[in-house]
Amino acid sequence: MSKILVTGGLGYIGSHVVVELIERGTEVIIIDDLSNSYESVLGGIVGITGKRPTWEKVDIKDKAKLAAFFDTYGSFDGVIHFAASKSVGESVADPMMYYQNNVVGLLNLVEECLKSKTNNFIFSSSCTVYGEPNSLPICEKEPLKPATSPYGATKQMGEEILKDMAKAKGLKTISLRYFNPVGAHSSGLIGELPLDTPQNLVPFVTQTAAGVHEKLTVFGNDYDTPDGSCIRDYIHVQDLADAHIVALQYLSKSDEEYEVFNIGTGQGSSVLELIHSFEEVTGVKVPYEIGDRREGDLPNIYANPEKAIQKLNWKTKLDMKQALKDAWRWETSYRNKK
Ligand code: UD1
Repeated sequence: MSKILVTGGLGYIGSHVVVELIERGTEVIIIDDLSNSYESVLGGIVGITGKRPTWEKVDIKDKAKLAAFFDTYGSFDGVIHFAASKSVGESVADPMMYYQNNVVGLLNLVEECLKSKTNNFIFSSSCTVYGEPNSLPICEKEPLKPATSPYGATKQMGEEILKDMAKAKGLKTISLRYFNPVGAHSSGLIGELPLDTPQNLVPFVTQTAAGVHEKLTVFGNDYDTPDGSCIRDYIHVQDLADAHIVALQYLSKSDEEYEVFNIGTGQGSSVLELIHSFEEVTGVKVPYEIGDRREGDLPNIYANPEKAIQKLNWKTKLDMKQALKDAWRWETSYRNKK
């Protein structure tokens, strides 16, 4: 596939995927509204690949601007759609923003894809669509339970919209259900860069280790897990980026209209294990205290990635320790530059 549109391509996962596409000789066009990203990320992409992708500031909610963008650029060989909001807590406080960004934005994009005869759509979904799992590790066949947040609801709706559009209009789509993406590019030139105080665990760990926060709060140690803290499946962002590349290649050859894949390691790690691994691989202490449970958190979820292993011929190559080392390299190199 030679010409790929990446929405949200200056964001955390998007920027890593852009690098992988460019390194494979793909022409990449990025749209991003900079709502949770910086234009300076382009510098990191250029630093790694030696190439500057085309990018336009477009908010996908702005129908007229999006239509004008497609008029200019024409049809694409595929679209990878990252442009969405992703904070569970923020979605509870401001559901309208989430339905606008994640659902209205998606509808606008799909409309333009159909008009421009752009096919092959990769959707950033999330393990949050499962709700509370009945069994672990969780596999794609598991029925979806009601979402525990508006953010989760927008990901469930996104999947439904795309499944229906694939069936009715032939928009071939893969939804990738990400588990917990962590880590950074090994160059230290791109990584996770939240605009505000991070809500996610690993950026909060690295910022605390860097002295930005006095301490980290572990949200609960009274769950029914071996050490009482929640368990998640932490996947290196590089492995996640690779999954998008193989999914695009698979999509271009596949006869299936719509498919879903879990993208995780298959290994669960607790919050306390993650903190201790970080301390072990970096030699830096993370001051923390045990706090109350965070509303809406699931006690335990990790992937059965077998379908992706079998059908996409993809599996993770990097472990959580490597991800934590890379996240720390990114945090320190970023702070040194400031
Ligand atoms: C959630 C969603 C995920 C979504 C992500 C986007 C679920 C199961 N997962 O991830 O689909 O893409 O949000 O933001 O709904 N923690 C602390 N202290 C902190 C921060 C986090 O103890 O300061 C704990 C949390 O309680 C959780 C773990 O760390 O157990 C991971 O939290 P986080 O990084 O926020 O991701 P999820 O909530 O798992």
